[in-house]
Amino acid sequence: MSSGNLLSIDVFLGDLNRLLTNAEKAFGAAATLDALEEARVEFLGAKSGQLKAIQKQLGQISAQEKPVAGQNLNRVKDAIQAAFEAAKERMSVESIRGEVDPAFDRTVPGNPLRIGRLHPITQTIEELTDIMGRLGFTPARGTEVEDEHHNFGALNIPDDHPARDPLENFYLSLASKREGHTALLRSQTSTVQIRIMETTQPPIRVISLGRVYRPDTADPTHYPMFHQMEGLMVDRNVNLATLKTVLQLFATNYLGKSVSVRIRPSFFPFTEPSVEADYFWNGRWTEFGGAGIVDPNVFRAVGYDPEVYTGFAFGLGVERLCMIRHGITDIRDMYTNDVRFLRQF
Ligand code: FA5
Repeated sequence: MSSGNLLSIDVFLGDLNRLLTNAEKAFGAAATLDALEEARVEFLGAKSGQLKAIQKQLGQISAQEKPVAGQNLNRVKDAIQAAFEAAKERMSVESIRGEVDPAFDRTVPGNPLRIGRLHPITQTIEELTDIMGRLGFTPARGTEVEDEHHNFGALNIPDDHPARDPLENFYLSLASKREGHTALLRSQTSTVQIRIMETTQPPIRVISLGRVYRPDTADPTHYPMFHQMEGLMVDRNVNLATLKTVLQLFATNYLGKSVSVRIRPSFFPFTEPSVEADYFWNGRWTEFGGAGIVDPNVFRAVGYDPEVYTGFAFGLGVERLCMIRHGITDIRDMYTNDVRFLRQF
């Protein structure tokens, strides 16, 4: 190629910069996606786009200046491409906002966004799991549909005990017929004690939090479905003092240092002795649940030697714990799904 045909690098760079300015202006001015596409073809089109035309001039640049010219060509090509992408992005945002779509009426008030939160019972379950975890108790799960053996028999509840009465339980008639045994919605989380001990050797320190079902009439402190936290500790030399210490530590962690715990004699077929646990907080005693030393018959039912091991168990009402902590006076408020109530937690 003769030197007369050479193109000055300055002219080439000037053309490139002008091209970039024009392309940016054209993309910025495009008001519709069609107009933007037209501008893209004009500047970036593979066959007859303006960039392609300038690229063809590269052959007229001297050998020494070609690398600089090539680098600048690539820089401008990337910049034009980026300007196009930015315009496309702006257009999609505008169309969402309705700046391009005339059907969107931006004067209509929007729906305020509200941040969701966990149900107070779920929050309580998480907190209880955390507190008991710090005391060395790991969570265990059971099933909500149970058989009579785990809900009653293995818990030392005799066949003629009133706790088995159909009026006190939700028996599942269809499941019973199909499975050939009587199934029911568990009435207490103590069933999980049995399932754990059947498959695990001591020492044991578990909790189980979940739903239980009883045909109780709903009133401010009762609901037909509620949650319990079961605790079970089995080892050598576990006694009533261990139980009271754990209940006191739990209460202090959940309600604060000012809380006192008292245990009163009671009766449960699966513990001996059995107690009710009350907490003194905010000037009054409130019952939270039952507890006791695991009855030797329960150990025998799961194959533990009651001469070697002792243990305690407790079952606390989660709703009652949640209510006292948050000053909720009616358990039914927690299950009516009224957002004005739920938003407070
Ligand atoms: C039991 O269910 C025993 N399984 C507890 C237990 C476990 C004793 C381990 C010994 C060893 P109880 O029926 O008392 O016990 O229920 C325990 C707690 O559940 C009650 O103190 C109360 O806080 C809560 N509770 C009982 N019925 C209802 C209900 N209908 N609605 C809400 N909470 C309830």
